[in-house]
Amino acid sequence: MPAIKKEIPKKDKEAVKPELFQSPKGMHDILPAEWILRDKVYKVAKEIAEFYNFSKIETPILENVELFVRGVGEVTDIVEKEMFTLRTKGGDKLALRPEITAPVMRSYLQHGSHKLPQPLKLYYLGPVFRHEKPQAGRYRQFTQLGFEIVGGESDPLYDAQSIIATYRFLEEVKVKNMTVQINSIGCRVCRPNYRRRLVEYYKKQKICKDCANRLDKNPLRLLDCKNEICAPVKIGAPSILDSLCSACKAHFKEVLEFLDEVGIPYSLNSHLVRGLDYYNRTVFEIFTEGSDLALASGGRYDYLAEMLGGRATPATGVAVGMERIIETVRADTAYQNHRFRPKVFLIHVGEVTKKKGLALIEEFRRENMPILEALGKDSLSAQLERAAKMKSPIALIFGQKEAYEESIIIRDMENGVQESVPLSKVVEEVKRRLKA
Ligand code: HAM
Repeated sequence: MPAIKKEIPKKDKEAVKPELFQSPKGMHDILPAEWILRDKVYKVAKEIAEFYNFSKIETPILENVELFVRGVGEVTDIVEKEMFTLRTKGGDKLALRPEITAPVMRSYLQHGSHKLPQPLKLYYLGPVFRHEKPQAGRYRQFTQLGFEIVGGESDPLYDAQSIIATYRFLEEVKVKNMTVQINSIGCRVCRPNYRRRLVEYYKKQKICKDCANRLDKNPLRLLDCKNEICAPVKIGAPSILDSLCSACKAHFKEVLEFLDEVGIPYSLNSHLVRGLDYYNRTVFEIFTEGSDLALASGGRYDYLAEMLGGRATPATGVAVGMERIIETVRADTAYQNHRFRPKVFLIHVGEVTKKKGLALIEEFRRENMPILEALGKDSLSAQLERAAKMKSPIALIFGQKEAYEESIIIRDMENGVQESVPLSKVVEEVKRRLKA
């Protein structure tokens, strides 16, 4: 016998409330309280970028999927596992950008930017999307600050400059105990040689399933494996530094000399290979003590332009994970006692003063003086309470009588002393009192 569907009575149906929506997994709201610290960090980013002559660039959040398949590499975690993709109504396959270096290069090639004075020093600050397993410091939407130096010569000076700008930014936002790990992964000439040595070595070892796959497709990534079977194998792997050609060796030596010159400490890590295919020569990652999540990472990518079908264009750059920075510096006392600009508080009593109050706020705006209000609240005590809570040094009380007489009461919130002043003089008087 077919199961009889039991109808839910209409009354009970109404009682079932739909579940509240949550933000997508690994993606977070950045609430107003969070912006105090975040804005400070962003401000420093802008100052550092401007000091080192990087100009701002913004590229679309969505890009053609192929840009990343070709640029970042087909056999990389980012492209294989982590891209959010979609098909448009017109049939285009787009991806939420999982990084911003390939888009910047796409833009450089698209606009014929090689005709401008080279190199182009560009910076960006914006959201990036990766379908990773969310955990502390690893999100599905996060913010990258990036510095890219595109065009000109493949000069080691530029590798050093992108590291210097990042290091100074991190210092300035109060990241402590930093380590710059650095390596060179060679070029088209010397890397195949190293790859061969690496494969020969790994073939003789017991390795995880993923690495067995990497052995054919992307052997350099063997050094990146976090699996416990592969960790001890990595220790005995041949060092790429022994396989570099003389041009790559000279390039790397100069990068290190530039860093020495400006006193940026670094440590060589011959196992550092990075998870994106476009790199050659210098690669680096910056860490803070006690965390194995990189705060910033980057390197040289001289072949990316050609991989995207463009002319050969040397380039180097870095991206900083802003959420990781914010979490690292949050506890620093420099961010605890932020100085705030005192704001007057406008209190109104009655409908007429509500309207006139709105006009008065505009007068304060013309003088660039911040003013708080609670025009949506009618009770005098509720407004006074709010003014005290906001630590306003002065409250302006605008009652019916004052509106009629074209005056307003200035109340010193500390001692409660009140004085009536003509409405036309109030901005001037408040300015005088706040300066005193
Ligand atoms: P990346 O190492 O993939 O490099 O990412 C750069 C930085 O983004 C990392 O060092 C980290 O701070 C942050 N990051 C990465 N994944 C996450 C995540 N799931 N949650 C939070 N933060 C994350 C690139 O993207 C290259 N485009 C960097 C570059 C620029 N190379 C040359 N120019």
